[in-house]
Amino acid sequence: MKEGIIARYGSFLPVTEKTPALTLHEGNTPLIHASHLSEKWGIDLHLKVEGFNPTGSFKDRGMVLAIAKAVEEGSRAVICASTGNTSASAAAFATRMGIRCIVVVPDGHVALGKLSQAVVHGAEVLAVEGNFDQALEIVRQIAEDSDVTLVNSVNPYRIEGQKTAAFEVCDRLGDAPDILAIPVGNAGNISAYWKGFKEYHEQGISSRLPRMCGFEAEGAAAIVRGERVEHPETVATAIRIGNPASWETAVNAAKESGGLIDSVTDEEILEAYRELAGNEGVFCEPASAASVAGLKKHIQKGDIPTGAQVVCVLTGNGLKDPSTAMEAIEIKPKKIPCDKDAVLKAVQGEGER
Ligand code: F0G
Repeated sequence: MKEGIIARYGSFLPVTEKTPALTLHEGNTPLIHASHLSEKWGIDLHLKVEGFNPTGSFKDRGMVLAIAKAVEEGSRAVICASTGNTSASAAAFATRMGIRCIVVVPDGHVALGKLSQAVVHGAEVLAVEGNFDQALEIVRQIAEDSDVTLVNSVNPYRIEGQKTAAFEVCDRLGDAPDILAIPVGNAGNISAYWKGFKEYHEQGISSRLPRMCGFEAEGAAAIVRGERVEHPETVATAIRIGNPASWETAVNAAKESGGLIDSVTDEEILEAYRELAGNEGVFCEPASAASVAGLKKHIQKGDIPTGAQVVCVLTGNGLKDPSTAMEAIEIKPKKIPCDKDAVLKAVQGEGER
């Protein structure tokens, strides 16, 4: 099989013979059947596990194309604002192309795993005392006034690359699912999936379109509230965004597909996060679990028909944010003396874990 989304889906992408053949083997991520939750909820649930991408999130699909096109168009530097994953991905692909990468992040609100990726790949990391929305505003202006290329999802190549995840879902299932559930932050990814599903449908590769269901974190639910959130707050730092750049396209995706945009609380997010890790064996980051939390909310409301085929997008790898994992799980590693009897006692220990 061809490696990477440019090689695999080039005919659907704005690539030319001058586009660098850049890849870190992004895409081709697993679609894992969630047998426990499927049985519990009476549906056919699959998890699109985007944490398997080279830098551990779905961002790699869009970033590989954005960076390749930037280089093709003569750029020597890229910039982005980020809650962490975009910066990790930009840093990896930019260093591979030998160009400069500047990332602007909200100080103190980026999971350590993501920050370490930007640092280790040699990005210039600027931590500002502000939130993602303010950082995005700044980098947009800088990109406008200079020849540094903006690689946030307002760059159309990002959306083009990210739509390949919808292709993969259809390729794997043989058609589009009934429902696609996805976390919403800056709202680029839901827009990208919808574009991908529509293109496959228009070309007759799939016979139907899914209902697009996007979920924001309650403390950052601008679209649901219908107004910008000045001070977004959520445990899901990846989607701690109060003024989504692709607001309109996300609303259109939900409307056109007969889906919805709703919000989930931090508690609901963490419950889904624990359920995925503890029962399905899939460790995603908190923001990713918003898709499953939202699905659960609507199953409980009775909106999801029995037997429906649902794909939940798990956008990022759980290892990105180990501190939240340690806080979210009650049973901690137990310290015991280093001898066989102590270990044996613990092994036999009154049924406790
Ligand atoms: N899930 C994860 C793990 C993310 O990192 C993001 C966005 C989203 C979901 C939401 O996707 O913005 O397309 O609606 N992270 C961006 C970043 C903002 O900077 O890494 P979206």
